[in-house]
Amino acid sequence: MTKSGTKARSTSRTIDDLLADFGTTMPRKTAPPPAPPAEKLFPNSIKAHGVRRPGHGWAPTMPPLAGYQMTSEETPVLWPLISGDGLPPWGAEMGYDVLSGGKFYCDPMSWVLDDTIPVTNPNIFIFGKPGRGKSATVKAFMLRMIRYGYRSLVLGDVKDEYEDISKFLGVDPFRIGPGLPGRINPLDLGALGVDWEKQTAEEQEKRATIIFNRWLMLIRGLVGSQGVSFTPTEETVINEVLQDLTGWSAGASRLKPVTIPQVWAALHSPSKELVNNNRYENPQAFYDGTRPLRDALGALCKGSLQGMFDSESTFQPDWRAPIQTLSLRSLHATGNKVAVGIALMCLNSWGQGIREAAAAGDRRIVLRDEAWLQTRLSLEAVEALDANLRLSRTEGDIQIVTYHKPSDPLSAGDQGSQAAQIAKDLLNLSDVRILMGQDESVADELGRLMGLSEMQQNVITNWAMQEKGRALWMVGDQRYKVQTLLTPLERRLTYTNEAIDPAG
Ligand SMILES: Nc1ncnc2c1ncn2[C@@H]1O[C@H](COP(=O)(O)OP(=O)(O)OP(=O)(O)O)[C@@H](O)[C@H]1O
Ligand SMILES: [Mg+2]
Repeated sequence: MTKSGTKARSTSRTIDDLLADFGTTMPRKTAPPPAPPAEKLFPNSIKAHGVRRPGHGWAPTMPPLAGYQMTSEETPVLWPLISGDGLPPWGAEMGYDVLSGGKFYCDPMSWVLDDTIPVTNPNIFIFGKPGRGKSATVKAFMLRMIRYGYRSLVLGDVKDEYEDISKFLGVDPFRIGPGLPGRINPLDLGALGVDWEKQTAEEQEKRATIIFNRWLMLIRGLVGSQGVSFTPTEETVINEVLQDLTGWSAGASRLKPVTIPQVWAALHSPSKELVNNNRYENPQAFYDGTRPLRDALGALCKGSLQGMFDSESTFQPDWRAPIQTLSLRSLHATGNKVAVGIALMCLNSWGQGIREAAAAGDRRIVLRDEAWLQTRLSLEAVEALDANLRLSRTEGDIQIVTYHKPSDPLSAGDQGSQAAQIAKDLLNLSDVRILMGQDESVADELGRLMGLSEMQQNVITNWAMQEKGRALWMVGDQRYKVQTLLTPLERRLTYTNEAIDPAG
């Protein structure tokens, strides 16, 4: 059987034989060229311990680096998982960098101090569609920075959503709103008024200038937000009124406290000097000329805002407490958005005054959540926020501002080119921007304003929309794809869906 089988196989015709009948042959693959001698990937490399040979010994320097040239598509094959310069493990541990798989830390003040990180101010702007986790990210950051000595000041919590955290930390939130007893005087002297008598005349002069400038900036914002122009004439009048009321123009050594109704009253029944100094012909001319200004200030003392910003402050911040929050929900609930914007402006100015003389090493996170409510009021309101943010470097605060979309700060007033320009400059006041999930419709706008590549825009419109807490972090010119993680306790403290969750 075997024999016959062998015979059968030996007589069978090969494919070549069969094809030969048709006058053709099988196409042959040409022999491959001889393989080049196997090359080592890293030739000439010397082990860190040097060469074990007489006369060689330990390497005094590190071995020379081998150079390679390849395209950016090829590099990840040899060096996978490296996505760019990582940030140092300093400050709040926020979550993880999905490109490198490493932990992601946030410590803006240390970033400013480190010249290798392209950040020159510690301000943070957070953008994101409602519900993507802007506030939760801020809350996690605040909580995690406590252990590094940071305390937080929430300037205007329009949803009272920082109250849970505040209570958890043992601090009673301060509430202001229609009918509530709390009062904030936006014209507080602030920290610069402390120990006034102990200062030299020169220092007092310097402090008075800062205080008057802050007040003027606030009044300009308040008046401008009601559509009343604040020209140099109005500025001079207000400046004089403020100097009179504080006693500064009469050479007083101590500045008297001032409130908005007092400023209003001084304009309502002007002194002879005020009329003459501002070159009005008579009190009636003054009265007529300053009517819009007076009415704009008067609006702060009636309606929704009555009893909130028109008398001495009743709130004395406890700077040793880990958090101080000023809740504005009851005002927000009235639905009067202009009033909320004005209230935020007053709180900002007050907050700035309170921080003006911060002791060195007093580290604070100052939050302006939902800042669009303020900046969309007017150009002056944008300028007021701009002035507040510029100070962070000198005061050592980390100022955080949250917005829905990048054009929110641009929606100031009537979109005049000046307003838009200042609002764009406002974006430049932060070197750290956190871009959370957004709809496609905002992607172009994001790309335009922030100089994002198409791929980065996609990160925001796709990847970041798939989970809460996902964001493209822009740290100077570096970009990180970060997932913020919340602990179970933080999830509870940051939960903001009570109103829409049937189980909640
Ligand atoms: N990283 C996260 N992991 C899990 N849940 C999160 C995360 N971030 C936010 N959430 C949850 O998502 C909900 C909405 O978050 P948050 O209130 O922070 O959104 P927001 O962007 O501030 O919205 P809005 O613009 O309405 O203020 C909250 O209940 C919060 O607990
Ligand atoms: Mg929020």
